[in-house]
Amino acid sequence: MSAFAAKSFQSHDYALYRPSYSLDFFKYIFSFAGLIKSSQDGKKLSILDVGAGPGTCMITIIPYLATLVEEKKINVQKIRLVVTDVSSNMLSEAKKNLTEVISKIGDENANLFELVYFEAGGEGLTELVGKASIDIVIAAECVHWLKSADWLNCMHQVLKPQTGVLAFWGYVDPVFTGVEKPGDHEKEVEKANEFYESFVYEAEGKLGVYWQQPGRRKLRGLCKEANVLVYDDTKNWGDVVTVYRDPLQGDVSVFDRLRGQDVGFKVDDEAFKLTKTFTLDQFLRYADTWSSSHKWNAEHGENEKVSSIFYKGLNETTKWELEDVIEVEFKTYYTLAKKV
Ligand SMILES: C[S@@+](CC[C@H](N)C(=O)[O-])C[C@H]1O[C@@H](n2cnc3c(N)ncnc32)[C@H](O)[C@@H]1O
Repeated sequence: MSAFAAKSFQSHDYALYRPSYSLDFFKYIFSFAGLIKSSQDGKKLSILDVGAGPGTCMITIIPYLATLVEEKKINVQKIRLVVTDVSSNMLSEAKKNLTEVISKIGDENANLFELVYFEAGGEGLTELVGKASIDIVIAAECVHWLKSADWLNCMHQVLKPQTGVLAFWGYVDPVFTGVEKPGDHEKEVEKANEFYESFVYEAEGKLGVYWQQPGRRKLRGLCKEANVLVYDDTKNWGDVVTVYRDPLQGDVSVFDRLRGQDVGFKVDDEAFKLTKTFTLDQFLRYADTWSSSHKWNAEHGENEKVSSIFYKGLNETTKWELEDVIEVEFKTYYTLAKKV
């Protein structure tokens, strides 16, 4: 279980300071799933969110689906959203957030949605969710906490054959790409990235040993293990696409089993380019939401919180101040696949 599942974890701060995913990225996933083309038969559409956290994905998806129905772009009788997380804290935050989202979309639209919540690990959802019942699985920023083979097996069971789509993705390590003030700051940016790597991954007085393993190692490696399991399993998964982006290395890699097929979907290696502009102060609040910080902060006093010591070190290295506006791009990956 991850630190996010601990009772003391501040799910509210998590939702405030973490990056969120763009609607365009969800449209891209839905286009891979052929959502608009295939849902003209008035049936129930079911989407499962694994490791949903505070409901980050559904907050964006619900109003968009309501619009699609309103504009008669999809013809569904019911939209079943299955929201799951191993943490009761996260799940209550998700319930609160999604109830609010539903309350804002109008009564007629609200009746369209059936929300179901399960407090459960992602690997053990088959009985709760039901075999061959799901059209689209999404799993954002949580696959590194899961036992890849067990989880993929479970997702294969809950997805509808032939049409069911698995989409999972993650991000790690904000890479500083700029600071918004006059002058040339290239050297500072380079130093800030060196400082980040050393502070976050080295031990002795730093965060290195505070990361829960093997989760962090897996995420830092952009979940290659899970991605390769899907890519290589041609018997169970088809149309597989995986894209890795590493802004620190200036590197994008695309693994794509769609090539040469006429599936009406174009792979976009920028679909999950995740950037964020923060004041340094906001960045530091985000730093306090890292799972390692949760552990560190519980052991250290207020003046030694991760945000405080990170600021001290970064400010010594770059002279950046709390109100400076900084730009980051995260290392990311995503995988899309269809159940065979
Ligand atoms: C970093 S958060 C991501 C939340 C949300 N999907 C997002 O993208 O903002 C990771 C989530 O995975 C959940 N988690 C950790 N281990 C899990 C497991 N074995 N099964 C299901 N969820 C798990 C945590 O409780 C947490 O809510």
